[in-house]
Amino acid sequence: MEDNITISVIKADVGSLVGHTIVHPDLIDCAADKLEETDLLEDFYVTAVGDDLQLILTHRHGTDNAEIHQLAWDTFACATEVARDLKLYGAGQDLLSDAFSGNIKGMGPGIAEMEITERASEPILVFMADKTEPGAWNLPLYKMFADPFNTAGLVIDPSMHQGFVFEVHDLVEGKRVRFHTPEELYDLLVFIGAPSRYVIHSIYRKDENGEAGDIAAQASTQRLSLIAGKYVGKDDPVMVVRTQSGLPAVGEALEAFSHPHLVGGWMRGSHNGPLMPVSLFDAKPSRFDGPPRVACLGFQLSSGQLNEPQDMFDDVSFDLARETANKIAEYLRRQGPFEPHRLPLGEMEYTALPEVMKRLEDRFEPID
Ligand code: 13P
Ligand code: 13P
Ligand code: MG
Ligand code: MG
Repeated sequence: MEDNITISVIKADVGSLVGHTIVHPDLIDCAADKLEETDLLEDFYVTAVGDDLQLILTHRHGTDNAEIHQLAWDTFACATEVARDLKLYGAGQDLLSDAFSGNIKGMGPGIAEMEITERASEPILVFMADKTEPGAWNLPLYKMFADPFNTAGLVIDPSMHQGFVFEVHDLVEGKRVRFHTPEELYDLLVFIGAPSRYVIHSIYRKDENGEAGDIAAQASTQRLSLIAGKYVGKDDPVMVVRTQSGLPAVGEALEAFSHPHLVGGWMRGSHNGPLMPVSLFDAKPSRFDGPPRVACLGFQLSSGQLNEPQDMFDDVSFDLARETANKIAEYLRRQGPFEPHRLPLGEMEYTALPEVMKRLEDRFEPID
């Protein structure tokens, strides 16, 4: 529909400085120059969180649009050339193919996009994480949209009281399922409590029949290792959350990150660590390549224009969460290569471990 606006957040790691720490400013400039050339977009904002280049785009072409995906792909390809010239680390890391084939999904970059009818006032939050995986959003999304101890509006706002519909994807079987909350909360938790396999893909307001209505949140769910068949970095996820007026307030959405929960990722994508909420300035994971970070930009969308963003975690009220995350990081690091700091074996499938086990296969003998 002509009145509708689509928000596409598309990210990729196309090379970083130093090692896997940050995106070189020349890549950000190159991406912005490339996006400036097109008339496909209403607006755009280019930023970086850790070593991931983030394209925040608004346009009128709907989700899964080939031209928009091509534009993002070309922008990453162009930034990859700059990364190669600068000999940045892992240049082109997330572009799994040399050629683009119509939809960026499954080709390496992460994507969260939603088509909406812009409300009279449309505050949206774009969350971007580094050194973790899509399942990292499960717990905070649950808190935002289903936990009344986090989101007061679920109890006291009549327009939220009916709850939400969660769409969960099984990344192993390639299946999806919807849960209605609050009535199916316990069923939902059975699955989303296993975030390496089951990830929340989207959340909807309930319509008058109690079924999925307007989109409220959308997350990226790509897992590169499942696509590439080997370890190629973690799938540092993004998500878009609409807020206010029958949806969680901005502060309720942010509150879900006040507790730095444990997520898979960190060093070599193979360790559990706390997800630390940081400003964009502090999105430079260094200790043991982490700990994992989440940053958030808030936009007050206006006729498709993004206008000035607000750096949402650039606030002293998140200092305690950061301090807690550092304490958890210190505690976990002492455990070195032992689970549960190191991820369980099943999650280490695409690392050196299967090779070691294969090499030693013959040395294993029956115990009795
Ligand atoms: P709305 O119902 O307008 O979103 O107000 C809620 C609020 O802002 C509480 O902080
Ligand atoms: P990225 O997924 O952010 O590139 O990190 C990879 C890694 O191995 C960090 O130690
Ligand atoms: Mg990297
Ligand atoms: Mg990264």
